[in-house]
Amino acid sequence: MRINEDTLLEGKNVVLVPYNAHHVPRYHQWMGCPELQQLTASEPLTLEQEYDMQKSWREDDDKCTFIILDKQRWADPAVLEEQCMVGDVNIFLTDPSDPSLAELEIMIAEPSYRGRGLGKEVTRMMICYGVTKLGIRKFEAKIGLDNKVSIAMFKRFHFHELSVSEVFREVTLGMTVDQAVRTRLLGDMAFMQEKAYRKDRDSRQEVTSPHTTSQAAL
Ligand SMILES: CC(C)(COP(=O)(O)OP(=O)(O)OC[C@H]1O[C@@H](n2cnc3c(N)ncnc32)[C@H](O)[C@@H]1OP(=O)(O)O)[C@@H](O)C(=O)NCCC(=O)NCCS
Repeated sequence: MRINEDTLLEGKNVVLVPYNAHHVPRYHQWMGCPELQQLTASEPLTLEQEYDMQKSWREDDDKCTFIILDKQRWADPAVLEEQCMVGDVNIFLTDPSDPSLAELEIMIAEPSYRGRGLGKEVTRMMICYGVTKLGIRKFEAKIGLDNKVSIAMFKRFHFHELSVSEVFREVTLGMTVDQAVRTRLLGDMAFMQEKAYRKDRDSRQEVTSPHTTSQAAL
């Protein structure tokens, strides 16, 4: 989706930025991990296929994705954005006849960042973004039956079981954005600030480029 190509969302401990080509090598490295492949029901891709996938996430109207950055590391402009990456979060519009229905996927790829509240913070940010910017009214999450952590996290957001596929060993959870959800999640959106991504990135590059140049000269 092009709607978020210049969007940076700043939370308390994380920053969400659009998935760009410079993120692909690290992303590809993550997805080579068999545990992540299993937890996210993903097939390994070649680096070239991963670049094609990034392009489709950027351009296709039914997909919206952000890369999750560690805000503490990102706050130091001398640290490259790629070195702050901890995971990704996606919204996928699954039904062309109903643009208010979306599948939500999240991955905290770096194991040392799991269990520290980032998953919850990002999920809340993405739900808020989906409701306010994309007009989503119903969210679904498809999760492996053995992925107890992910199931527990979505249930914290009042997702309920919609169906179970024993064949695919997968549960589909769903949540409708009613008034209670609006009050609970959207009532106080001050925790999340939206900024222009390109401007932020340009100012970081001004800081990191001389460093990179001097290193290259060594
Ligand atoms: C699932 C995932 C997104 C959760 O994010 P996280 O940052 O690790 O989770 P958080 O610390 O925000 O905790 C969120 C909730 O998950 C549950 N949870 C977290 N760690 C847990 C653990 N070790 N055991 C059981 N439940 C756990 C809890 O319900 C927790 O809420 P609570 O602390 O209020 O009780 C993350 O672990 C992850 O990406 N794992 C690998 C990939 C994956 O499974 N993706 C989901 C595919 S559908």
